[in-house]
This record gives sequence, C-alpha cells and structure tokens, in this order.
Amino acid sequence: MSVTASAPGKVILFGEHAVVYGEPAIAGAIDRRIYVSVERRSDGEVRISSSDEIEDGYPYVKRAAELTFDYLGERCGLDIKVESEFPPASGLGSSAAVSVSTVLAISTLLGREVERKDVARLGHMVEKKVQGAASITDSSVTTFGGVLFIKPKLEVVEAIDAGNIPLVVGYTGKTGSTKELVEGVRTLREADPEIVDSIIHSIGRIAVRAKGVLERGGDIGGLMNINHGLLESLGVGTEELSRYVYAARKAGASGAKITGAGGGGCMVAYAPENQRAVAKAIEDEGGLPFIVSIEKEGARIETG
Ligand code: PMV
Repeated sequence: MSVTASAPGKVILFGEHAVVYGEPAIAGAIDRRIYVSVERRSDGEVRISSSDEIEDGYPYVKRAAELTFDYLGERCGLDIKVESEFPPASGLGSSAAVSVSTVLAISTLLGREVERKDVARLGHMVEKKVQGAASITDSSVTTFGGVLFIKPKLEVVEAIDAGNIPLVVGYTGKTGSTKELVEGVRTLREADPEIVDSIIHSIGRIAVRAKGVLERGGDIGGLMNINHGLLESLGVGTEELSRYVYAARKAGASGAKITGAGGGGCMVAYAPENQRAVAKAIEDEGGLPFIVSIEKEGARIETG
C-alpha cells in the first residue's frame, strides 16, 4: 500500500526578518503543493527519490522520517517519493512543506493519527534540526493553510479570515541563504540598534495594520510597498528583486515587495485587477512569474 500526503508552499505577506525579533508576521499558503508518497520496504531501509530536481529537500525528508518514527515509537523500511509544483530553496517554503508532508504520510501509512498541532510541531523541529534555526511561520502555514497571523513571542498563530488575495510571485531563479541574510540583519542591528530596532518595530506595526485591512477585505498594496522599503533598508534587497517590484507596480499591481529572506529568492505582488499583466511585466524583466492565490487547505492526505 502506498500513501501520498501533500502540503502547500507559502508566501510571507508581511513581517519577514522582523519576526526573528519577536514582531508579528502574516503569511499565506499558496495553491502550489509538494507531494510525498511512502510505501513500505521489507529490508528496513529508507530510500528517497524524486522525479524533480529537489535533492535539496532530502535532508528534511530523512530527518522528518526519523522524528516521526521516534514520535510514534515505531519504525519500518520505506520508499519515499517527492514531487513539487514549485521550485525548492526559492523562499516559497519547500522545506517546511516537504517535512510536514513526510510526517503526515508516514504516520498515516502506519495507521496512526497525529494531531495537526503535533504535525506542525514536528515539521518545525525538522526545520530547526536541519537549518539550525527557523521561526514557526513556514511549518504553521503549510500545516494549517489559509492566511495566518504569526505571534512569535507566544509561539502561536491566529487564522485571518481574508477571502481571496490575488497574488503574483516573481522568482529570480537564485537562492538567497536565509541563514546568511538573517545574520546580515543581526550585524546591522548590532552596529546601530537604535535605528535598526525602529525599522524592525515599524515592520511589526505594518503587520498589525495589515491584519485589519485583510479582515475588512481592503487593499494591502500600500502597506506592502512600505514593507518593501523597510526590507531594502535592512539590506536584504537585490537589484533584480527591485526591478521586478517596480515592473509589477508599473503594470498595475497595487503593491509589491520582497517575500521571504531576500538576497534572491522571490518577490510578491498584490494584483487584484491584472494578475496576467503583472506576471508578464515580471517575465519581461527576466523573472519567473507564478500567478497564485491563497490555498485554504493545509497538509492533507491525497491517497491511501
Ligand atoms: O527564506 P524564507 O522564505 O523561509 O523566509 C525566512 C523568513 C525570515 O523571517 C527571514 C526567517 C524566519 O525564520 O522567519
């Protein structure tokens, strides 16, 4: 018997980097998924394969399998296959999605039900073990889906009832190292805590304000633009990302910003009226655009 689980990717709409210093953030699941299929092997080994080029995810899959076995107090040999609808290591949350899907697929194969909050917790543990550090943002969003308001100090998340949010993601095709970018912000803050802390605090205030706007079904574009400027001031922007951001705005997006750690990776535009024109503008600048919308459903079992 084979079991397939899937989990969505994510975009951070507000608050990346500031969330590391305890400020709130807003992230949403996107309608592109990672799929993990598991089947028993009789020789007790765990083998991982993929039809895509997503070897980057293998350490997460391996660690997720180990932690799930430990959590359940039971283990077995496995063939694990991974497939993805979005690029890995692009800041779209592939690590968390692959970790959470693996936890869900293995526990289901073993006939065990794991509560959602524990699936999210195990996914977060995997990310921390593999990366050294990670906030609860990605593992929460990929597990629960929808749009979440992240309160890092309390380690809790709150669902935001936001309706549809028409977005266009622009991928640079390059990977920014989240670890190095987070360290860069730390260095900047150490050099001038007064100024950098006020930027970080302002990003947090934007996230709080944006929550209210989303709940009213309002336009978050203006707040995204301010958030982008503040991320630039923290030194995580690149010329390429800014080009896509300006091109998206010119093509009619009401707001656009870096999403995730920056230094490459992706930007995101809010384009209620003209997603296609915005996607084309990003493509004309050399980016890889994805028209996405918010995915309400988090991790789920597909078959089995
Ligand atoms: O690289 P991503 O998309 O997972 O974004 C990282 C977000 C940071 O706030 C920079 C780091 C974190 O752990 O929250």
